[in-house]
Amino acid sequence: MKKIIFAAIVAITLVGCGHSKQGLSFNPNDGQEAELTMPNGEVVKYTAYEHLYYVKNVEDTAYQYLNVYVPEGATRSTPILLRTYIGGYMAAKARGPQAGDATGRALKEGYVVVIPGSRGRNSVQDSTYTGRAPKGLLDLKAAVRYLRLFDREMPGNAERIIIDGTSAGGAMAALVGATGNHPAYNDMLAAMGAAKEKDDVYAAVCYCPITDLEHADMAYEWLFNGTSSRQRSAQLLPISNQLKEQFPNYINSLNLKDWDGNPVTADNYIDLLRKELIRSAQTAKNAGADISDTLGFSFNEERMGGMPPINGGKKMALPTMRAPQPQRGEYVVGLDIQRYLNYVANTQPLKTAPAFDTKGVLGQRASAENEEFGGADGSSVNFTVYSAYKNGKDLPKEVVDNVYLMNPMNFIGEMEATDGKSKAKSEHTLAPHWYIRHGARDRDTGFPVPLNLALKLNEAGCDVNFIFAWNRPHSGDYALDELFGWLKSIM
Ligand code: DHB
Repeated sequence: MKKIIFAAIVAITLVGCGHSKQGLSFNPNDGQEAELTMPNGEVVKYTAYEHLYYVKNVEDTAYQYLNVYVPEGATRSTPILLRTYIGGYMAAKARGPQAGDATGRALKEGYVVVIPGSRGRNSVQDSTYTGRAPKGLLDLKAAVRYLRLFDREMPGNAERIIIDGTSAGGAMAALVGATGNHPAYNDMLAAMGAAKEKDDVYAAVCYCPITDLEHADMAYEWLFNGTSSRQRSAQLLPISNQLKEQFPNYINSLNLKDWDGNPVTADNYIDLLRKELIRSAQTAKNAGADISDTLGFSFNEERMGGMPPINGGKKMALPTMRAPQPQRGEYVVGLDIQRYLNYVANTQPLKTAPAFDTKGVLGQRASAENEEFGGADGSSVNFTVYSAYKNGKDLPKEVVDNVYLMNPMNFIGEMEATDGKSKAKSEHTLAPHWYIRHGARDRDTGFPVPLNLALKLNEAGCDVNFIFAWNRPHSGDYALDELFGWLKSIM
């Protein structure tokens, strides 16, 4: 009898409290049944586990937890879509699945969906800013560790986590993908009471990542300097000219290779960009898009050897054959880049110069990024040598360190080997699969930023699916058929 009572108490305790490890908990019996109506009227049923704190030492109760949504039929081998709603480097709430974006689609496709909250540049507790860099990233890494800690207890496979984000969230997805298990973050994660687990992920889906922040200003001016918008601005042009001059050295320092393995340098970078934009236009044209003659592209009925490879040259897809149009031709064979960039700048006015590290230059106000690298007192700071110098200052070491930790480019390929910070290289794990998109008329960061990220990852041996998405402005979670087709192909 005693034995039965004891067993009953154990059983009730397990059912009531769920599992607790390292001061973190998950209760598989705590789920709430719910449903989501998709845009086509289809109803998707799922079980919701909400408000799961992913660190032991919660500093900001409003953000440091995650929600898990398990569709009917999910098992322990089901992939997990981890969607961050970070935008503008701000704090993001852990919300519910949305019928119109990748979370709803993922549930419908049978994926487990996880939506973590995370601190950001605007999160405050008791007049302390809780989420300045790299705190938002640390929160996402802690969320991944939590999923790994409870991998056995929770439906979904923590070895198949796909992180998805847009813009600043795309940058965060790139960071989570590039910094898996990297020791540079270990002490900070330990101090937060994050699970002692790995934090690498299987795939990163990065829409228009606002990343490589310390080089984004030079990339922007190198790209847009020749537009009439910049040329007409007597005030911004001198800044633009100076920043533009810095880009070639940076490009040459990256030792990039194109998809075919040919060296990419400052001298041929514009050719690469032209090819990539032609690839974007050709892909859209093959799918039926009508591309205006006014944008700068030229067309031909013959390929003229100019058609760049589809999908990084890996999976060569020949353009579909349609009846030739006598005037313009099926093939996009050339591009007047200046004309195209003027078109981009006309669809939405360019950012100011500098585009990111704005604070104090020409008396301008702090940007989102100036705040992201600012202090817990709510201050904003310069984070590039250029803008600091313009303000007669040096960059404090703390800022330099944070900028380093917030740039995925530092953790990909041989840059890591030469910087002396790669002691535990064996633990460091890059996500093996990458889906990177940047709109072909997105002017929130320069085209080289996402392209360099993609090429660097490709060179490091990752599977990279990259394209400038035709006619897309700054946006994310689009072309979901394509995204989910790709996800299926990597599972
Ligand atoms: C975002 C957009 C920006 O232009 C920027 O500088 C930072 C973040 C965003 O949409 O997240």
